[in-house]
Amino acid sequence: MMSSENRSDFSASCSSISEEARAKINLALHVTGQRPDGYHLLDMLVTFADHGDRLDFMPSPTDEFTLSGRFGETLAGDGGTNLVLKARDLLREAIGPLAFPVRIQLEKNLPVASGIGGGSADAAATLRGLMRLWGTSLPEEALAALALKLGADVPMCLASRPLIARGIGEKIEPVPELPVLAMVLANPLKGVSTPEVFRRLATKNNPTLRLAPSLRGTADWLAAIGAARNDLEPPAGEMVPEIAVISAMLQAHGALLTRMSGSGATCFGIFATMAAAEDAAAALHDERSDWYFQATETVSGGA
Ligand code: C5P
Repeated sequence: MMSSENRSDFSASCSSISEEARAKINLALHVTGQRPDGYHLLDMLVTFADHGDRLDFMPSPTDEFTLSGRFGETLAGDGGTNLVLKARDLLREAIGPLAFPVRIQLEKNLPVASGIGGGSADAAATLRGLMRLWGTSLPEEALAALALKLGADVPMCLASRPLIARGIGEKIEPVPELPVLAMVLANPLKGVSTPEVFRRLATKNNPTLRLAPSLRGTADWLAAIGAARNDLEPPAGEMVPEIAVISAMLQAHGALLTRMSGSGATCFGIFATMAAAEDAAAALHDERSDWYFQATETVSGGA
């Protein structure tokens, strides 16, 4: 017979839901203009890593939020601005009485304010997880509008698949043919203020992102990504000189292509194989154990 303790473990595990909040990687980011409200118009080629934060959601007598993981401490004092709590509250407002109290556990494995969308991915995972837990969903357009209210990158993090995003990030087209890439994510653990990076941009009307329709296989894609840019890399590099250092380190360890993601400071290196990426991440960690190096595959567009 099941003891009462086992029974409660059993019911908790049945009603607990997990979501991955995958790191978002801007393979290219072109700043093409600015809206009257100050937001910048961007063309972005984006993929997602098979690595990120993890969120668990379960029913609870009252709302609760706990943090763990390598970067959990960094967020500890952030009660009012935490995007997970904002996402919970906005979704609850939209859903109404079905939205019972929840315990949310966030395992924060991604560095904060680092250009790989950790906060946006957490917010998107909260929307996905709570809709499952509360057994309801919003119509697609209402969900997209709610996500955009949380941040320009949240709509693309809801998809977490290779895509092109335009506008401020809300006009999304999937790119199922983008190949899986072997990558190392590297960050000197210096947080970067996104508004400050945009403020320092010298030119806001850069050429749009154009990708040939006939890209076939990884070599073609690497050439196309190599020909594109991240227009935020020069201003972020002025604020964090380690960005150039980390990029050179990735190249010295065999990266075929390196670039900064988002508004930085995380840079990625693309490697020929996952074994090469893992070897490079281990060697880089030996050189700078106080920085963040993570080998990861990117997600498949077709999955
Ligand atoms: O939307 P999110 O909160 O992630 O954006 C943070 C800040 O980055 C905005 O307040 C804005 O200053 C800047 N930003 C921008 N153009 C974008 C996205 C963000 O100017 N497309």
